[in-house]
Amino acid sequence: MSSKYVLVVSVGDQRREIPVGDKELVVGRGAEASLRVPDDYCSRIHGKFVQRDGDLYVEDVGGRNGIFVNGKQVLLDQKLRDGDEVRMGRSTFSVRQAMAAHVAADPSMSDTITRDIGPEGIQFQGPAAEMGFKLTKLIAISGMGILFKATDKTTGGNVAFKILRPDRATEANIARAVEEAKSLSRIRNKNIVKILTTGRLRNGESFLVMDFVEGYTATQLGKAGRLGIPEALKIASDTCAALHVVHERGMVHRDVKPSNLMVEEKTDRTVLIDFSLALTEPGGLAGAPAGTVVFCAPEQVQPSTPEEGMHPAVDLYGMGGTLFFMLTGQRPFSGGSTVEIQKKKMEGPWPRMHELHKYVHPGLDEVVWDCMKPTPADRPADANTVRKRIDEFRKIYPARSGGRRDIQWAPVRSRGRRGAG
Ligand SMILES: Nc1ncnc2c1ncn2[C@@H]1O[C@H](COP(=O)(O)OP(=O)(O)O)[C@@H](O)[C@H]1O
Ligand SMILES: [Mg+2]
Repeated sequence: MSSKYVLVVSVGDQRREIPVGDKELVVGRGAEASLRVPDDYCSRIHGKFVQRDGDLYVEDVGGRNGIFVNGKQVLLDQKLRDGDEVRMGRSTFSVRQAMAAHVAADPSMSDTITRDIGPEGIQFQGPAAEMGFKLTKLIAISGMGILFKATDKTTGGNVAFKILRPDRATEANIARAVEEAKSLSRIRNKNIVKILTTGRLRNGESFLVMDFVEGYTATQLGKAGRLGIPEALKIASDTCAALHVVHERGMVHRDVKPSNLMVEEKTDRTVLIDFSLALTEPGGLAGAPAGTVVFCAPEQVQPSTPEEGMHPAVDLYGMGGTLFFMLTGQRPFSGGSTVEIQKKKMEGPWPRMHELHKYVHPGLDEVVWDCMKPTPADRPADANTVRKRIDEFRKIYPARSGGRRDIQWAPVRSRGRRGAG
């Protein structure tokens, strides 16, 4: 989703623009904050910005010395308007209506946005300068970064150019990110997005250049009614193959979910994208967006040891929830706060897919809920094991001729109606 608002954050003499996506921004000086401010007058977790029904709100989450909007203290939360000034500690946040909606409609507008990214606009340093990219279209703005379609001037080919959100790429983080990106770029696998290069912008923000996948995410395909059972199983099987390779290299994706899987239009291959969490420090999920919380493993939210949230078993958990979504069009858990969802993950109820969609084999429920066992050690041994189990079901649901586009995916309600009528 593109964001409607941009926050211009000023701390001391530092100034930064942060787009507000559909994920909440938790402000504070602690590592738990998703928007970390170097401000001793802020609490570790001070306040947060959230979008509800298209409006932006600021909420006091117990900051020691309060939150002020245009000089007046906020009691619990307050709706914000274009031009409002929010103060937490000595940091200020000016609210600006974003241009993103127009940019999406008109690619030529993306130049305006890129000029806004840093004081000098997009500038390249080091090897990237010689490579040269022209940003052609803004694809997505989210809590983790800003993604553009770009042209590689040397090859003329399309690439995806992703600028990582500054607070997810702190100095301490960058060495690790560069190392991980290097090992990722050595992977050549048709189901894993190819990383071409990484670098830093002159304003210090880090970026990642990848092959551009012409196609749709599994979320988009699901919403468009373009996922039948055979298609969902193929995507899941391909994703397991990708995860197997990632895990073999000693890496963990940590953010497996429908919006991070793309299906290439021409070839129908599944591509695992968005390694931004894999590239960042452990605990990168603190103050995590609600969208991710549904798909991430419970131990990523509350790890009993720091390593637990970094284990390959977290990707199997994400895989289970993704398969559930692709087969039913629904998320395995819904509603409520992070805490409530966490409780459902640990204690159930664990909804059965064949009750939501009568054509889903009950055996697939077992695959999903084995992957989503609350205790990581109870999950399948590895991604290959899951893949084999899924492939058994692909024999029951062979891909129909005519391809994905001819198959209407529908949850049980509409199928029932169709059957009854
Ligand atoms: N390599 C790529 N090729 C084409 N589109 C991409 C690519 N990577 C990401 N996208 C699109 O941009 C969206 C956001 O990118 P992603 O890397 O998932 O970032 P985040 O989830 O942190 O915003 C994806 O859901 C997808 O629609
Ligand atoms: Mg993503």
